Amino acid sequence: MERALYVHIPFCLKKCLYCDFYSITDLTLQDCYIDVLLKEIKEIEDKELKSIFIGGGTPTVLSKYNLERLLKNLSRFDFKEFTVEANPGTLNEEKLLLLKDYGVNRLSIGLQAVQDNLLKRLGRIHNFNDFLNNYEMARKIGFKNINVDLMFNIPEQSIDDWMDTLNKIVDLNPEHISIYSLILEEGTVFYDYYQKGELSISDDEIDRQMYHYAVEFLKSYGYEHYEISNFAKKGFECIHNLTYWNEEEYYGVGASAHSFIDSYRYANASDIKEYITSRYLKREKIYISKEEQMQEFMILGLRKIKGISKKDFKNRFNVDIIEVYGDKISKLLRQGLVFDNGEFISLTSKGLDVANQVFLVFL
Ligand SMILES: C[S@@+](CC[C@H](N)C(=O)[O-])C[C@H]1O[C@@H](n2cnc3c(N)ncnc32)[C@H](O)[C@@H]1O
Ligand code: SF4
Repeated sequence: MERALYVHIPFCLKKCLYCDFYSITDLTLQDCYIDVLLKEIKEIEDKELKSIFIGGGTPTVLSKYNLERLLKNLSRFDFKEFTVEANPGTLNEEKLLLLKDYGVNRLSIGLQAVQDNLLKRLGRIHNFNDFLNNYEMARKIGFKNINVDLMFNIPEQSIDDWMDTLNKIVDLNPEHISIYSLILEEGTVFYDYYQKGELSISDDEIDRQMYHYAVEFLKSYGYEHYEISNFAKKGFECIHNLTYWNEEEYYGVGASAHSFIDSYRYANASDIKEYITSRYLKREKIYISKEEQMQEFMILGLRKIKGISKKDFKNRFNVDIIEVYGDKISKLLRQGLVFDNGEFISLTSKGLDVANQVFLVFL
């Protein structure tokens, strides 16, 4: 069976003020980290993969030496899609050529916004021009599948700023665009500011206005809206992330990474020092019952705009979706939050706005 592989690189040059993904800024640990990571990857060297995703953190912050030994190791697998997350300001021609040479065929670049004052507000290390230089260099080197991450409802971001961001990005014609509403995560600098009343976040109405504007705008430029936050040109949907939304199996290697194999979820040590000293072996193993898997299938599946295939549910769990969730689905249908076209159950436009509440119904 072909599975997906996620590789976590927990290093960043500087922590962005809103981010709670696991990463540290002490780059001196990278040699030991990659030593252990390569040993963990060796454990699955005989497995079949459909996709590899090196995420972070900021994978492109690794030294050329470490990036090369990681890529060399991973390039031995057969895969359809190989993505690397890259942060503008950490890419150069040498690193891009290295990625290309070892078979990376998809780049995911975190831009967030085109206004330098907003990038500064977010604590990003780059400006818009750095992004443009990296993007153009990547195209010149031959990357034909590029995703750009954008954020909306950033403090002090006006609707005009958001429209300008979307306009400037579609002009570049990337194959894929992800749009994320800023989430105030506990433990981040932004969360502290907010608690102290030093950060103003727009209300839900503005957030939704920005979201709906983006959906219509991106569709009008030929992007298919295929997941709540994701848009792709035809044939460029992210194979790796679809694995999660289809609740299929994946390996996750590196500090804080998770795997889902044969009904078990494995959680690696989340602290990099613990990951290194335990030689990756300190892992939590949790059994995911059939009932829990059905819940996850619903919650993750409804993230896809196409929705959940009734046939896929039956094939996977050997029971009819209506038999398990008939009452809940009927209620959501009456509330106009989901739509049933006979084959698929999907969120309506109204349901998309309150997606988290709909997901809770299945828990
Ligand atoms: C974890 S980052 C990794 C990519 C890379 N380090 C970067 O920042 O460009 C992936 C994406 O998650 C999004 N993200 C991170 N924290 C977020 C938050 N609190 N709210 C919304 N989006 C967030 C950003 O758009 C970011 O580009
Ligand atoms: S958003 Fe990206 S660059 Fe910023 S701290 Fe998070 S992982 Fe690092």
